[in-house]
Amino acid sequence: MAAVTLIETRALSRHFGGIRAVDGVNFALPEGELRALIGPNGAGKTTFVSLLCGRIAPSGGQVCFLGQDVTTLPAHRRIGMGMAYTFQITSVFGNLTVQENIALAVQRRRAGNGRALESETRAALAQVGLTDRAEQPARALSYGHQRLLEIAMGLGQRPRLLILDEPTQGLSDGEVAAFIALMREVARQTTILLIEHNMDVVMTLAERITVMDAGRIIAEGPPDEIRADARVQEAYLGKQHAEG
Ligand SMILES: Nc1ncnc2c1ncn2[C@@H]1O[C@H](COP(=O)(O)OP(=O)(O)OP(=O)(O)O)[C@@H](O)[C@H]1O
Ligand SMILES: [Mg+2]
Repeated sequence: MAAVTLIETRALSRHFGGIRAVDGVNFALPEGELRALIGPNGAGKTTFVSLLCGRIAPSGGQVCFLGQDVTTLPAHRRIGMGMAYTFQITSVFGNLTVQENIALAVQRRRAGNGRALESETRAALAQVGLTDRAEQPARALSYGHQRLLEIAMGLGQRPRLLILDEPTQGLSDGEVAAFIALMREVARQTTILLIEHNMDVVMTLAERITVMDAGRIIAEGPPDEIRADARVQEAYLGKQHAEG
């Protein structure tokens, strides 16, 4: 039985002046998959997921989520339908405690009910391993822990779709390993779209990989196929090796 398509785009575009940041993208993500989205700097990855979650409006095309056209729905309505995302730039509330940050995220979905709020907040804290730091102000956390907190805020919404934009950027090797373990666990319940530059993380976690370059999807497939793809080598993987 084919999986249900969770999110889909048709001819999705976003132009900034003369730049076609996203240029006619047709994309489909089946429910239950862990998909990586890769591509060189400026390929349009962040712009693409910003269109998915409604942070910015498209210049053309459509976004469908759970079979519904959400192209003109504001971001908060999409969150209400089960989309969660973390930004490329850390966006926790520094003056609130770790716990308060997560509780805010849980509350976005669920109004009232104090006990459920508390237990769901605690569950999300535990899942990312921040229970011991629950009472600390978020600004006191290391950068790596702030990124984990952001993921916990996403998980606190119990999303159907979790979109992560470069979550391992700036993490230590040990933190990256913890992140991989966390994603494996989260992926059992949640569809994940992961923008990621760390190829070890991508190749370890992704079931399929979508490659963007210059606003377009240039390849899509399982990790082995993508690694061997000549266009991908040229646009991205080759460059990475050249730089590294
Ligand atoms: N708000 C904006 N105004 C003007 N141009 C923009 C804006 N946002 C993105 N762009 C341009 O759109 C293109 C795609 O940018 P985007 O940030 O989506 O790429 P990316 O794949 O996420 O890159 P990176 O890997 O560096 O995060 C780039 O040329 C970028 O300069
Ligand atoms: Mg980006």
